[in-house]
Amino acid sequence: MELKLGDIAPNFKAQTTLGEIDFHEYLGNSWGVFYSHPADYTPVCTTELGRTAQLKAEFDKRNVKVIAISVDPIESHHGWIKDINETQNTEVNFPIIADPSKEIANLYGMIHPNASDTLTVRSVFVIAPDKKIKLTLTYPASTGRNFYEILRVIDSLQLTANHSVATPVDWKDGDDCIIVNSIPTEDVPARFPKGHRIVKPYLRYTPQPNK
Ligand code: BEZ
Repeated sequence: MELKLGDIAPNFKAQTTLGEIDFHEYLGNSWGVFYSHPADYTPVCTTELGRTAQLKAEFDKRNVKVIAISVDPIESHHGWIKDINETQNTEVNFPIIADPSKEIANLYGMIHPNASDTLTVRSVFVIAPDKKIKLTLTYPASTGRNFYEILRVIDSLQLTANHSVATPVDWKDGDDCIIVNSIPTEDVPARFPKGHRIVKPYLRYTPQPNK
């Protein structure tokens, strides 16, 4: 089954480095970032997990819980975390799922057999508090993901959810946003008291509402 945007992120129970979890219970009312690693004790993954741990305050600020998965066993994860903490100068502070049967990796379509039939690709799922999938990313094993980009997308998703704005090309925190087309133009002044600019009837900007 291919998971698509808007689908409910399938629930599962798993063994993790922080104990047994029920995925949906773990997420609770938070946003979630669920992402896969091809294998333990691999260099690119080591740097990615380190960066995620270093960004804990940024994820917390956005009410995001992070959880990683690798298809190696739990004992291997525990040993690898020591290396990550040592080499990346951090402390891994979120759970890593052990999935040696690949049941969860298969549930989320993280194994792409024509890339590798044993390792997962680098998948990312951003999940909203209603458990709907809001973003999927698939990177090859050899390319480390950009976790600042993942934070940027979460900022954009939260702006849309809370303030009815979208974000334009190359948007950065603090830039003007786009008023979503479902807001009638007559409602714009009241809904966007910081001001607005109409370039075309379908292209309307407003200063970032939460700044
Ligand atoms: C890595 O994390 O470094 C890696 C993992 C699998 C294949 C290639 C690179």
